[in-house]
Amino acid sequence: MKGLVLAGGSGTRLRPITFTSAKQLVPVANKPILFYGLEQLRDAGVVDVGIVVGDTAADIEAAVGDGSAFGLQVTYLRQEAPLGLAHAVLTAADFLGDDDFVMFLGDNLIEGGLGDLVAAFERDRPAAQLLLKRVPDPDRFGVAVLGADGTIERLVEKPADPPSDLALVGVYLFTSAIVDASRRIVPSARGELEITDAIQRLVDDGLPVRASQVSGWWLDTGKKDELLDANRVVLSTVIRRVEGEVDAASTITGEVVIEAGAVVAGSVVRGPAVIAAGTRIVDSYVGPFTSIDRGCVVERSEVEFSVLMPGCHLRDVRRLEGSLLGRDVRVVRGTRRPSAHRLLLGDHSDVELAEGS
Ligand code: DAU
Repeated sequence: MKGLVLAGGSGTRLRPITFTSAKQLVPVANKPILFYGLEQLRDAGVVDVGIVVGDTAADIEAAVGDGSAFGLQVTYLRQEAPLGLAHAVLTAADFLGDDDFVMFLGDNLIEGGLGDLVAAFERDRPAAQLLLKRVPDPDRFGVAVLGADGTIERLVEKPADPPSDLALVGVYLFTSAIVDASRRIVPSARGELEITDAIQRLVDDGLPVRASQVSGWWLDTGKKDELLDANRVVLSTVIRRVEGEVDAASTITGEVVIEAGAVVAGSVVRGPAVIAAGTRIVDSYVGPFTSIDRGCVVERSEVEFSVLMPGCHLRDVRRLEGSLLGRDVRVVRGTRRPSAHRLLLGDHSDVELAEGS
């Protein structure tokens, strides 16, 4: 059994972060999203993993290397353009050969492991084993219609008028029949070779396509609010570990990780929250569901329900909520006159000022 991780694509919905970084490398609880899937593959015994990469290949390769840090053997597969998930499968055809494989979308997170799923697939070897989850907004996903016996009858990608609320989760198990099926489909209205269409081919060919519903959480981190929500859900699982320096004037409450090499002085940190090595929190409040990555400085500020990527600086900011800050972002209260907001923002930045500020 091989692994195929999709880490190409354009990430337009997470701009401007994705102008300079791959969306799969945006951190959740201070760890790139992609790493969670790689660890789950390894834990399920899937070590021969192909990673499909696009324009952000250099970033992904720098972060994952040859895979040995994860206990994996990684092969990079360059996709010429993000032409769809089935196109990614075709890009990987030589790597996959005749082997069965788990396909994992690099911006998806699922609770628990893949071990049981892989074991069940290896036992029965259907042409495809899908994961489904009921969602309130099925028009944003691939959607499955089940027959009375629970088998897949029909699949449709991002339907305007969804025939069911069962979304396709971004983890699929396939035999090599999917490679052949992917060769026999045409691009969809959005110009992509859709994996849903390729799986529909398997159904139409009369091959066994199975589905089970995921009971735990499933997070698709395509947009800022989804990313913050993923961060909230993953932080809810952290266990208190305070290894950094915390002075007597500080209060740390609840499930908080303060890594060795982090400093907290004169501050209140209320979990769940994670503060990475090399970060300093001074005279500040860090509230629940906040991840602060390496080398940040937060002084005389309040921040809650937010993700700060490495190297950020907050000074005299009251108060930041629901925010995603990219690398080396600086947000400070100025003292210059005239008193005004002074912004230097990249394309597609998004600023919401508090009322009366
Ligand atoms: O998240 C689950 C959904 O993922 C499914 O319900 C849909 O059926 C499926 O089509 C897919 O929809 P998205 O629109 O969310 O896919 P997205 O374009 O975000 O791509 C998913 C991952 O695959 C992402 O990490 C980027 C990568 N990718 C995407 C494309 C289109 C590639 O590596 N190559 C590609 O050509």
